[in-house]
Amino acid sequence: MRVLIAGGAGFIGAELVGRLLAEGHAVEVLDDLSGGSLANLAEARRSGGAFRFHQLDVTARACSDLVAHLRPDVIFHLAGVSPSLGHADPPRDAEVTVVGLLRLLEGARAAGSRKVVMASSWACYGELSPTELPAHEHLAMRPSTPHGIAKRSAVDYLAAARERHGIEFSALVLASVYGPRQLASQEPGCVARFARAAASGRPLRIEGDGSQTRDFLYIDDAVDALSRAAERGSGLVLNVGTGQPTAISELAARFAAAVASPLAVERVPARLDESMHVALDPARALIHLGWRPFTPLGAGVAALLEAVAREQTAVGEVHA
Ligand SMILES: NC(=O)c1ccc[n+]([C@@H]2O[C@H](COP(=O)([O-])OP(=O)(O)OC[C@H]3O[C@@H](n4cnc5c(N)ncnc54)[C@H](O)[C@@H]3O)[C@@H](O)[C@H]2O)c1
Repeated sequence: MRVLIAGGAGFIGAELVGRLLAEGHAVEVLDDLSGGSLANLAEARRSGGAFRFHQLDVTARACSDLVAHLRPDVIFHLAGVSPSLGHADPPRDAEVTVVGLLRLLEGARAAGSRKVVMASSWACYGELSPTELPAHEHLAMRPSTPHGIAKRSAVDYLAAARERHGIEFSALVLASVYGPRQLASQEPGCVARFARAAASGRPLRIEGDGSQTRDFLYIDDAVDALSRAAERGSGLVLNVGTGQPTAISELAARFAAAVASPLAVERVPARLDESMHVALDPARALIHLGWRPFTPLGAGVAALLEAVAREQTAVGEVHA
């Protein structure tokens, strides 16, 4: 397969690049490096002819031309702005999510591409009540943030492109994805933040009272679902999560247990627009992708702490 990944230099994209190269596919990455980095692609760049990188804004007209020229069989739309930029600049978030998708679809049409796989988000569901958890795809999506609205709108464009131009799609509603590569990110997310703090005995910073829940999904599991979606699950919105809500305070307790130390907690005010409860029912993904999450949270927490320990050893060796 020839595959194009928009946003392939980011956290999830770079892991997907590695997976698809290992499966023997030819992989092209389109990324403007606004959030991702070439360092994330160092291994892929060493892999030789099957990998190429194009530094380009997915919202630019030239993006459609590039797709038309490259003629990928499958396109992944993983380009997205960071959460903080998404909050500060909703128009840019919408541009990258929606206009970027339209550019990719325009190119896909010219290229005769078979399918677009979209990285959608749990933010599509909006505020869920505890009785709606874990959220099933049958639930009406009521996004309450600009980010959720943009991700939700993208699904409508995908459905229309399928209907009108025969371009298949899968929209994967990703839970909160975490993994070691986030440790190097400017906005690491709370699992990576907790891992760093726990490993050095610093307090864990919790927004609000910590009772808000998230569905934490390990990166390998997210990438497994994305890669399967290249061939399966067409015409569908599919949840990619564990189905398990984990309170932020419980996550903090898991890190404290993993380092066998009572860690202090620093409380900061809750964000006003933050969803209180998230968990995504993965039953449909099992049926249509043959996918299920396989990394328990405890194993993911251990993997993050090991990654921090490796980093600390490497820094120690440099200074020795
Ligand atoms: N990480 C999560 O927990 C999570 C959860 C739900 C959905 N998602 C979605 O998955 C996708 C990937 O997320 P991630 O965590 O890897 O984020 P990331 O910020 O690490 O990666 C996004 C990539 O998109 C690139 N990008 C941004 N604007 C661009 C533009 N205009 N043109 C080309 N490239 C551009 C960035 O440079 C970066 O490499 C995003 O669409 C995100 O909304 C992520």
